[in-house]
Amino acid sequence: MKNKKITRKITQGMYVLTTKEGGCIVDAVSQVSTGEEPLIAVAVMKSNYTNELLKKNNKFAISILSKEVNSEIIKTFGFNTGRKINKFENVETTKVENIDVINDSLGYMVCEKVDSIENDTHTLFIGKVIEADVFEEKEPMSYAYYQEHKEELLKVTTEKGKTAWICSVCGYIYYGEELPEDFQCPICKVGKEYFKKQ
Ligand SMILES: Cc1cc2nc3c(=O)[nH]c(=O)nc-3n(C[C@H](O)[C@H](O)[C@H](O)COP(=O)(O)O)c2cc1C
Repeated sequence: MKNKKITRKITQGMYVLTTKEGGCIVDAVSQVSTGEEPLIAVAVMKSNYTNELLKKNNKFAISILSKEVNSEIIKTFGFNTGRKINKFENVETTKVENIDVINDSLGYMVCEKVDSIENDTHTLFIGKVIEADVFEEKEPMSYAYYQEHKEELLKVTTEKGKTAWICSVCGYIYYGEELPEDFQCPICKVGKEYFKKQ
């Protein structure tokens, strides 16, 4: 493959995917059909706790983040696992169809799962929109915007005196003089070539 980075030019957004008892940040969302009950597809890494939850539940919600979202939401849902923390503890949500949607968002879609497709690393969950609302008319945050502004959004301050390696895809920080040979980002699973020394 000559340069896989071209895939980053596909316009994607920033979303919180939630289901009963968990959720995570996703950008891999797409509307795959229109009509009264549009179909939405979302790709979720198999290693994510949210994937496990989605297999047990038949509904999920996608809350659409704006450029002005409180970045704590990205940190909480994108850099932590629901296996270890309760992500909803300090985040205001509203229950819709028994699923928590994020109040600090432009709005949401609640979907009923209609299908799923497995590959090696991800499950593609497909859902039909059964409820949706718009909270605010602001500009959505695109994945490209997140990429451009992630250092300030996440306020990346590395610990003094320590060598830090920052994942250029998701913003995860690894501390250590060198990255291990077969290192993979624990959040987005890219290889060490995507890490920049700080
Ligand atoms: C900017 C950004 C985009 C992400 N996009 C996706 C995605 O599309 N699909 C996915 O499965 N994980 C994605 N992640 C990673 C999950 O949000 C992350 O691994 C999370 O900690 C999983 O939490 P969980 O174990 O509670 O499910 C993304 C993370 C960030 C920061």
